[in-house]
Amino acid sequence: MAKKQRDISVSEFFAKNRHLLGFDNPSKALLTTVKEGVDNALDACEEAGIVPEIAVEIDQLDETRFRVAIEDNGPGIVRAQVPKIFGRLLYGSKFHRLRQSRGQQGIGISAAGMYGLLTTGRPVRITTRTSKRKDARHFELVIDTQKNEPRVKADRIVRWEKAHGTRVEIELEGAYRGGQHSVEAYVRQISLANPHAELHFRGPTAKSKSTDDSGAAAPVVTFPRVTKELPAETAEIKPHPYGVELGVLMQMFRDTRARNVKTCLQGDFARVSARIASDVCERAGIPPTRRPSEITRDQAERLHEAIRATKIMSPPTDCIAPIGDDLLVRALRAEVDADFYTAITRRPAVYRGNPFLVEVGLAYGGDMTSEDSVSLYRYANRVPLQYQQGACAITRAVTATDWKAYQLQQPRGALPVGPMLLIVHIASVWVPFTSESKEAIAHYPEIIK
Ligand SMILES: Nc1ncnc2c1ncn2[C@@H]1O[C@H](COP(=O)(O)OP(=O)(O)O)[C@@H](O)[C@H]1O
Ligand SMILES: [Mg+2]
Repeated sequence: MAKKQRDISVSEFFAKNRHLLGFDNPSKALLTTVKEGVDNALDACEEAGIVPEIAVEIDQLDETRFRVAIEDNGPGIVRAQVPKIFGRLLYGSKFHRLRQSRGQQGIGISAAGMYGLLTTGRPVRITTRTSKRKDARHFELVIDTQKNEPRVKADRIVRWEKAHGTRVEIELEGAYRGGQHSVEAYVRQISLANPHAELHFRGPTAKSKSTDDSGAAAPVVTFPRVTKELPAETAEIKPHPYGVELGVLMQMFRDTRARNVKTCLQGDFARVSARIASDVCERAGIPPTRRPSEITRDQAERLHEAIRATKIMSPPTDCIAPIGDDLLVRALRAEVDADFYTAITRRPAVYRGNPFLVEVGLAYGGDMTSEDSVSLYRYANRVPLQYQQGACAITRAVTATDWKAYQLQQPRGALPVGPMLLIVHIASVWVPFTSESKEAIAHYPEIIK
């Protein structure tokens, strides 16, 4: 056995378990690729303070083969980073921080590129430029799955009319579906929750195989922005002591720059003042001057218990940017013709030490049909969740609501029936998804409540 035991690279793991990342069937793979590209484009623009303008283009190359391009006007990517970002799984700028963003794991766009490579053998193509004073560069790269490392196939200066931005092209085996899970429906839902973004979408035109005739280009559908104002800038926060597990606490003591336990507690956590840090040390019976690296397991456990027993203020909540009830209602008005619209943005709350916030928009009556279940649009950090509705905490919260009190029919344990569209958005510095494909939110009681 020993001869056969060896390392497994993270990319090998996810190549085999691609369903964990949302690549379990061809139509979903196409949608997931678009989603990862658009998530990144929006995150990058917002972080750089740029009002986003994003184009999604899909070309059908063959019956089952597609080319997806996502282009943004964001800050661009510096040359040295491009191979790691697109040619390596678990590489990114968002995992090690607590801040509201769409991406968090660092396996979004690189996984899409890997799926493309595995199914078509084609490299990911990236064009990017960081400013007018710099040249635009074009890259082609593949991921070496066994090593989880990039292989650069091309890296050259190109002409590009954009002053700054990024264009990513991925070829993949896919299928193009209409309806609820279509890419166009998805882009529409993104535009609803991101009223500051302008989105252009061009669907595929099939190339007929026999004549080699590419046919007329499909029309570009534009989803204009409703506001030029970017979402409020959100702060990165430190972890709240109530959310930290014992093992993590021990690791923090090993890694900290602080010279003693007291300043470590004070400096590395949110909401720990000098007084609270002293209280915690006293309660744990540990001198505040002890060096963090010398804290034993037993002492860490005592500190962990002391943290729980100490009253500490809830984490700051200015780290969360809601869409806002006003914009939610405007988005709903743009989406459906109803008789009644309303929206509410709740105050932030906390799960496992992480701040989060829930907001709901509702449109009732008008053109919508009254025989079917209501439509439920789920969002997490402004990203539409298209799959796994039944497994999501949002669905649980909606079905657990007593809609009969509002004169709607409601089969037991199901969504209510009636002419209604519900938008539910949860925003958080760390969204607890049920899997890496980020399709459903885990059933934390605080969130469902
Ligand atoms: N369009 C883009 N513009 C600028 N930076 C980008 C873009 N796409 C990706 N990045 C950078 O690459 C990193 C990795 O992206 P990704 O693999 O999707 O993981 P994640 O979004 O979860 O961090 C991001 O954290 C971001 O720093
Ligand atoms: Mg991402």
